[in-house]
Amino acid sequence: MRVHVADHPLITHKLTVLRDKTTPSPTFRALAEELMTLLAYEATRNVRTEVVTIQTPVSETQGLAISTPRPLVVPILRAGLGMLEGMVKLVPTAEVGFLGMVRNEETLQPETYAERLPDDLSNRQCFVLDPMLATGGSLIAAIDFLFARGAVDVTAVCLIAAPEGLAAVEKAMEGRGDVTIVLGALDERLNEHGYIVPGLGDAGDRLYGLV
Ligand code: URA
Repeated sequence: MRVHVADHPLITHKLTVLRDKTTPSPTFRALAEELMTLLAYEATRNVRTEVVTIQTPVSETQGLAISTPRPLVVPILRAGLGMLEGMVKLVPTAEVGFLGMVRNEETLQPETYAERLPDDLSNRQCFVLDPMLATGGSLIAAIDFLFARGAVDVTAVCLIAAPEGLAAVEKAMEGRGDVTIVLGALDERLNEHGYIVPGLGDAGDRLYGLV
């Protein structure tokens, strides 16, 4: 598994404002989208391309275009929705599928409660969007889901991760398919309530105004 922590000053600046508890939801939403666009640049570094021949006003030439099958972007509901626009702004031809994950309070395991994805993901590059990589449970379940449908490589984009969650994903993905994690920041730890420290609180609540 490859892990890339983006260390660009613009990303750090926007994350600092995002973390601030006085930042209101409309600003939070705008920043989450902007951060995703910046991280998308890094996350799509290995997006598959093919050679195409075009005519410029001056001559024929060859260039590269994103190849088919198109990349599939999968926001994890609900907080991943806050990153979707930022991703499709940069990759407008991507297809979008949805996965809803919730923790079963008896087994404590993540379960899929909503799914709208192509049945066959063979030969597809997938981009999973989930702002907070905390315990890693839902991200592992989402990546497993995509591999089970035949995906060949999966890149997860998270705004903030806890080292515990990152280690859990790394362990679960040992010997599995091609997985890359792109992060805006790697924080200190998880607290006893499963929140990332220092983190930003509950990303879904802050996006959708339930603070
Ligand atoms: N989910 C969040 O939204 N925030 C955390 O800190 C951990 C999980």
